[in-house]
Formats: sequence, structure tokens, C-alpha cells
Amino acid sequence: MKFLITAGPTREPIDPVRYLTNRSSGRMGYALAGAARHEGHDVVLISGPTQLDVPAGVDFVQVETAQQMYEAVRDLLRGVDVAILCAAVADYRPVVCGTQKMKKGADRLVLELEKTPDILGSMRSVFGFEGKLVGFAAETNDVIAYAQDKLQRKQCDFIVANDVSRSDIGFDSRENEVTLVFPNHLVPLEKDTKEHIALRIVEHATIVPS
Ligand code: CTP
Repeated sequence: MKFLITAGPTREPIDPVRYLTNRSSGRMGYALAGAARHEGHDVVLISGPTQLDVPAGVDFVQVETAQQMYEAVRDLLRGVDVAILCAAVADYRPVVCGTQKMKKGADRLVLELEKTPDILGSMRSVFGFEGKLVGFAAETNDVIAYAQDKLQRKQCDFIVANDVSRSDIGFDSRENEVTLVFPNHLVPLEKDTKEHIALRIVEHATIVPS
């Protein structure tokens, strides 16, 4: 099968030397790419900036902004059987990015932000993707309820729900504990390394419904 996986944070520039980003390390997405490759699949990994080594045998596309990730996903979707969107895409970006470094001025500064394109939300409705679609939901509260809502709204096959209020799992850590949220059932995965969790996610993503 052919997998497309997004990973890592995005960077949204404010000026030539500053940007908005988040604490995603990219580890979960890179572990998914490695796991899918390990299982013999073709893998394209589209990633924001991380410190990680690209798993062997994986096609790699480096991006920086949400807009670039959106375009890369759109352009590389042909022939993809399974798309797992794991990237921690910035939801908002500065409306203007200056060409020169911003100088210090008043005591308060208001930065105007606008929404970035919703990649996961565009997969079915804009890109017409018909393969298996897996999204991530990073939440601090009402984790399963929000994931179920996201599952419906973005027409995913399942959502990997992640409680990011805990510092021992999820964002920027080596381990994770997630629940796979399907339309009619939940599959809780015990706390484990992101590599082991990734294998379980890939397994579930490749099950063909009978
Ligand atoms: N995602 C995306 N494009 C965006 C934002 C998010 O593809 N611009 C994807 C992420 O990769 C992840 C999923 O959407 O798979 C969940 O991201 P999240 O920001 O939690 O979802 P939102 O629908 O933006 O929900 P919320 O209301 O929680 O902000």
C-alpha cells in the first residue's frame, strides 16, 4: 500500500527572523513513517522542521508553513491508499509577514492572525481523497467527545485521540497513550513507546473492512 504521513510542527513567519510554532517534536509522525515502511509499504513523509532522522526508505518532503504542507499533501495524494495526518499544524498565522525585521516600539503589540488552511478537513471535501483517512486529536479535556466530533466533521476512518494535558505522554515526549476512536467503537492503546503505538496504528489503518 502507499502511505502519506504528515508530521512535526509548522512555522508561521512573523518577519524574517521570527515565527509562531508549537512544541511538537515530530516523533509520532516519524515513528508512523518508520512503522509503515517496516511493514513493507511505500511511504511519503511530509514534515515541518524537526531534529529527527528520516527513517530509511521513506520519501521525504520538507516544508515549513501550513500553506506549504497543504500544497504538498494536495500534490502528492495521487495513488495514496492511507493518509495519516499527524502534523501539529498551526491553526493561525500572521496576516502579514514583514520583509524586514520588526523593530521594538510601543509597550503592547497586537499581532493579527488568520486561519491556516485545514488540511485534514480538505482531504475528502476539497481533494476528493477516497482512501483510508486517519486524523489526530490533541486535546486537554473531553478528549473522546472532541475526537468523535472531529471524526464526523472531517470524515475520517478513525481518529487517534491524545491527551496533551499529561506531560509524560504526547507532545515532545518519547511515549504516548492514545485511544483510537472509530465511528462505533473505541480501541484504547496502553502507554508505550511511540514506535510501538505507531505499529498498532498502521495495523488498524491497513485492515480492509469485510
Ligand atoms: N490539521 C490539519 N490542518 C490544520 C490543522 C490541523 O490537517 N490546519 C490536522 C492535524 O494534523 C490533526 C487534526 O487536524 O490530524 C487535528 O488537529 P486539531 O488542530 O486538533 O483540529 P481542529 O479541527 O483544528 O480542532 P480544534 O477545534 O480542536 O482546534
